[in-house]
Amino acid sequence: MDIELPERALVLLIGVSSSGKSTFARQHFQPTEVVSSDHYRAVVADDDNDQSATKDAFELVHLVVEKRLRRGLLTVIDATNLQAIDRRDYLNMARQYGTEAVALVFNLPTRVLMDRHYARPDRFFSESVLERQIHRLQTTMHDLPFEGFQAIYTFNSPDEVAEAVVSRRGQPSGARLQTGPFDIVGDVHGCYDELVELLTKLGYVQDPSAPLINRTLVFVGDLIDRGPNSVGVLRLVMQLVQNGTALCVIGNHDDKLRRKLRGNNVQLMHGLAETVAQLNAEPPAFREQVRQFLEGLPHYIQLDNGQLLVAHAGLREDLHGRSGEVVRSFCLFGATTGKNDDYGLPVRLNWAADYRGKPTIVYGHTPVADAIWQNNTIDIDTGCAFGGKLTALRYPERELISVPARRQYAVPSRPFLPA
Ligand code: UTP
Ligand code: MG
Repeated sequence: MDIELPERALVLLIGVSSSGKSTFARQHFQPTEVVSSDHYRAVVADDDNDQSATKDAFELVHLVVEKRLRRGLLTVIDATNLQAIDRRDYLNMARQYGTEAVALVFNLPTRVLMDRHYARPDRFFSESVLERQIHRLQTTMHDLPFEGFQAIYTFNSPDEVAEAVVSRRGQPSGARLQTGPFDIVGDVHGCYDELVELLTKLGYVQDPSAPLINRTLVFVGDLIDRGPNSVGVLRLVMQLVQNGTALCVIGNHDDKLRRKLRGNNVQLMHGLAETVAQLNAEPPAFREQVRQFLEGLPHYIQLDNGQLLVAHAGLREDLHGRSGEVVRSFCLFGATTGKNDDYGLPVRLNWAADYRGKPTIVYGHTPVADAIWQNNTIDIDTGCAFGGKLTALRYPERELISVPARRQYAVPSRPFLPA
């Protein structure tokens, strides 16, 4: 199961005692992200089993959850969470702080629960307590869809728990406060030579005697496929992101590779087969680094105190600052009508023509012959892999810098260059 957490999330672990909530929390989250009722029982009573400390412990749980949500931090509540009234308080807090509430339900067979319960040295209550909790879990599962959670994931076996992958779609911390200047680079699509030439032209030279460039690169995504050297591009951009020189949002091609590297069954089309072949020639450790890099890429980045937004296919104004499936799909694919054109490609809506927002939006995804401003938005995908050029936008200067493709590496299914 693929659990993709939104940028701001409150995660409720829901399950009876011994269903593995604390174990899961330890495996998938940082210790400070997990607010555990047992921990606060121990804090107030020196004993995480002391049921007389429940009221005090939950007062602290509420307080800590609220303080974390106010800061926009991912917060996981490790408690049984089997009472609707408790869940309602958390959901209200999430709503108040613009956070999405996600439920992870541990619905394991009773046999497994009993076995684990009796094997535990730290839980002394009788079987009837566990049975009561199991009954409450059934009621909970019935009620959950109507309570207002943005997402509910249910594990029905220990295997499903063990195989779960948790990823996050977060903005890089502090990005919003970065004021630049920035050099935003369009869809690279494996055009390594052109990328190096562009970075050289922009002043990102690897000359140790040169003064350090005081600018930040931002990639609009689609680093890979179609061009000749996707691995070279990945290696370079991963290095630039790691050393703080670059930020990057995920593109639809990158996202498909991410799913492939996770073991999902994806169709190897539009250049992905070649990218995968190149990656297969690399050591497994590199593939794992690529997977982790892609898992961590945000769908969009807000910069310059919210005055600049970068997303692979752009983002409608009413979706700024939000997360979830609609945002994800818009950032990756833009606005589409759901119909295909004569070339068999999804018909794209020109959302930029209707854009009236204040933030400048820089995006790619749809190749154009030249980058042209439209309502404070600009598409800088100038189709390098299709024999166009690779373009960067300097911000705040609004200056365009391009290098021509060395050759045409792939044929577009829909022509975009003037004949
Ligand atoms: P946890 O301590 O993770 O359960 O695991 P829990 O849901 O948080 O329980 P409460 O609500 O705090 O009481 C319970 C036992 O099950 C084992 C753990 O080692 C622990 O002893 N366990 C957990 C497994 O054997 N496999 C798992 O996948 C998870
Ligand atoms: Mg626990």
